[in-house]
Amino acid sequence: MVTGLIHGHSGLAYLLVLSASISVVLALVNALTGPKPGLVKAGVVLGRRVEPALMGIIGLLGVGAWFAVGFPLGTPYLWLGVLAVVLQGMLVGMGTKPALVKLSEGDADARWRWVVAAGLNAALVYGIFGVMQAF
Ligand code: HEM
Repeated sequence: MVTGLIHGHSGLAYLLVLSASISVVLALVNALTGPKPGLVKAGVVLGRRVEPALMGIIGLLGVGAWFAVGFPLGTPYLWLGVLAVVLQGMLVGMGTKPALVKLSEGDADARWRWVVAAGLNAALVYGIFGVMQAF
């Protein structure tokens, strides 16, 4: 069971890395070539649905693995994982969502805000992925 939890957790983490990377490419193409409704729609699916859902499931499986393995409660990198889940939620709420809402309303000025939000999200995901791999 423990192996299954950890495999499920890290397998979904790879998917999250892929999705976060695709979101950055979508946001950049959208900013550089002029806003495209199709790119914004794909950005909503990945950035506001898929990535928060993956992060939530990764967090739940991670906490399950934490207790199933019996790691001490004070394990710092596991708390960094919890912090990453919380920060990603805040970033989606305060950065990604408002930028994508403005873009879908036709406000082209918001396109670089999407790039910044997607970039910060990807940096957060790569960072915690690297931390988890290192320990
Ligand atoms: C609530 C947050 C999290 C908790 C409690 C947590 C917990 C864990 C635990 C217990 C392990 C097994 C460690 C070991 O066997 O030494 C693990 C591994 C891993 N975690 Fe997390 N994690 C969390 C968030 C994340 C996030 C957000 C990501 C990436 C986006 C991530 C990516 C990984 C990866 C890739 C591994 C496998 C590392 C390896 O191959 O050795 N985790 N995590």
